[in-house]
Amino acid sequence: MRIAMIGGGYVGLVSAACFAEFGIEVAVVENSPERLSALQDGRIPIYEPGLDTLVASNMQAGRLSFGDDIAAAVRGAEAVFIAVGTPPRNGDGAADMQYVHAAAKQIAQALTGYAVIVTKSTVPTGTSRRIAGIIRETRPDADFDVASNPEFLREGSAIGDFMRPDRVIIGLDLDAPDRGARAESIMRRVYRPLSLIEAPLLFTGLETAELTKYASNSFLAMKISFINEMADLCDKLGANVHDLARGMGLDNRIGKKFLHPGPGYGGSCFPKDTLALSRIGQEAGSPCRLVETTVQLNDARKIGMAGRIIAACNGDIAGKTIAVLGLTFKPETDDMRESPSIPILHRLSEAGATLRVFDPVGHDTARPMLPPETIYCTDALDAATGADALVVLTEWNIFRAMSPTAIKKVMAGKIVVDLRNIFDPQAMKEAGMTYQSIGRPEKIRHT
Ligand code: UDX
Repeated sequence: MRIAMIGGGYVGLVSAACFAEFGIEVAVVENSPERLSALQDGRIPIYEPGLDTLVASNMQAGRLSFGDDIAAAVRGAEAVFIAVGTPPRNGDGAADMQYVHAAAKQIAQALTGYAVIVTKSTVPTGTSRRIAGIIRETRPDADFDVASNPEFLREGSAIGDFMRPDRVIIGLDLDAPDRGARAESIMRRVYRPLSLIEAPLLFTGLETAELTKYASNSFLAMKISFINEMADLCDKLGANVHDLARGMGLDNRIGKKFLHPGPGYGGSCFPKDTLALSRIGQEAGSPCRLVETTVQLNDARKIGMAGRIIAACNGDIAGKTIAVLGLTFKPETDDMRESPSIPILHRLSEAGATLRVFDPVGHDTARPMLPPETIYCTDALDAATGADALVVLTEWNIFRAMSPTAIKKVMAGKIVVDLRNIFDPQAMKEAGMTYQSIGRPEKIRHT
């Protein structure tokens, strides 16, 4: 079987490599010359554990190729996946669809026989039908169906998420004469290896599949905002948010995951998708108020964290040195998009602090987004050296292993603000630190 993947970005590259690993021949089309030449040389332009070896072995096996010729990639492909970017349009929260529409036009021109055109990018409801319209306008004789197959992979564990998904959602055109049967049979073959591990393939209508992606991501974002508010309440009431989350999560209807409090969610998906769903609801005359509130809460939370750090430093950080551990929006990625570190560090810098930062892989992506005076250090202890206060922003495992006494030894001051709750409060106290975390006030038993 042969498929084409239009777009060699994050979703396109991971999906293409995994489909190739399934034994499918995958031709990736990438139109950025720098990115393409990197990929053709076997260099992976993103940090994703395991992706480099997966790409290399499948290129070597002749199943995975990269090029810029869309006609060559589409020729003979039974399915053409669109995985181009849908960045937020300036200010208004709507996704910028120009790349998707351009891809649809080019695919139409390149079609040589029947193919399913599958949207993998996260797109507003109605996009698959719009794509079908563009293809019909461009090539009235084209023999094709459209399908929507949103991707749910997480950065840092993308390959595992793709290979062992909780479910695969596939939207079909239920208004087509065969109710999407031809497209369904191709999509079943594409995902056949997953039937061995009994991952459910859920077939729905086009609009439902498109909306399921936004609804899932918005629900998870809402869950995080919920536990963040509970953490703040725990701080006020002397309760422990981790025990509370465990108590809630053991109820299967709630579930244990995504109940970890922090400085607010970031990344390329949650902020964009919550904003997009808010807008989709408003435009449809059916506002999604919980999601709208989640967006506001999260924005306010990220900004508010700087105030929390300043308050921990007795209200004044002018002339003080603050060590910051972790910059990326979560561990195991170099992605800085919408990372809480951006507004937090700008505010700390404006308030007059010197910032000594360390992130295991994020320095290059962080540099253009952080205050220019930021000092990038060689490791966590180097960042802490001489600092008046230390702040944890991303829960990289290497930070968890740090000994409080070693930190104390190199710091000038003794304030630690742990916005990811990675340290043991008792151990911090015993080392003589003034320790603050989220939703774990000092007077209670910590678990
Ligand atoms: C997310 C979705 O999980 C994925 O299904 C979707 O396709 C893309 O968006 P990703 O953005 O890579 O994936 O990261 P994820 O692990 O979901 O974390 C998102 C953000 O939420 C991070 O900033 C993380 O720190 C934060 N988070 C997550 C919390 O603050 N608490 C939690 O309990 C979980």
